[in-house]
Amino acid sequence: MTNTLDNFLDKHLEDLKHRGLYNNIDVIDSPNGATICINNKILTNLSSNNYLGLCNHPRLIKAMIDGINKYGVGSGAVRTINGTFKIHEDLEHKIAKFKGTEASIVYQSGFNCNMGAISALMNKDDLILSDELNHASIIDGCKLSPAKVISVKHCNIEDLTNKIQEARSSNLYKKIMYITDGVFSMDGNISPLDKIIPITKKFDVICYVDDAHGSGVTGKGYGTAKHFGLEKEIDVQVGTLSKAIGVVGGYVAGKKKSY
Ligand SMILES: Cc1ncc(COP(=O)(O)O)c(C=O)c1O
Repeated sequence: MTNTLDNFLDKHLEDLKHRGLYNNIDVIDSPNGATICINNKILTNLSSNNYLGLCNHPRLIKAMIDGINKYGVGSGAVRTINGTFKIHEDLEHKIAKFKGTEASIVYQSGFNCNMGAISALMNKDDLILSDELNHASIIDGCKLSPAKVISVKHCNIEDLTNKIQEARSSNLYKKIMYITDGVFSMDGNISPLDKIIPITKKFDVICYVDDAHGSGVTGKGYGTAKHFGLEKEIDVQVGTLSKAIGVVGGYVAGKKKSY
């Protein structure tokens, strides 16, 4: 007997297929390298984000094995109870140094960063201005925040300026935040942060840059903020460890505040 869940799932899947949005996920049976094995076929891999080849690098493999031998395979508790290890703290210091910020905090993934950080920073009386081509995790992260969200035309300084000015003169919002990918995940273009930062500074708008695709690639590897020499000007820098860095996890880097 089918129930409402079955009905919903069948209809939803059919609809996705009809709209060409159904995703058949390839299952890889090899390391994610220049070639990969899918369905017993060796194929040239043109679609990974393993930009620097680090996910199979012998030094990283050894470090991972050494870490497991010393600490085990899990932390045994969430970080806020008693699952924060010295290596977490070391990693956060290293990431802050890498990003040119005062501090950083590590999450389980880049996706989790946007889920956690946006709603932690932006409240009911706030406004988020989000580039229309931002990554799905930013869009979902914005949905978790009670702040009003307005889309900004892609990398369009005029549209951004107009929307900031309108918001400021309305006096409706306590905080305003502009969120953009550093390097856009689908098109590969770089957000014009050198033009954006003078505007966000002028109107006291928080600037949040998700540099998942820029880190390890642009700015001599340090990312898009470094590419423009703006490490100290961008309020929040988000990144992932699952692309150029070759492992898994994400981070939010910025100001250090402690009480
Ligand atoms: C801009 C951006 N942010 C976040 C993520 C998510 O990163 P993760 O794979 O660590 O969840 C991605 C991944 O595609 C991304 O492109």
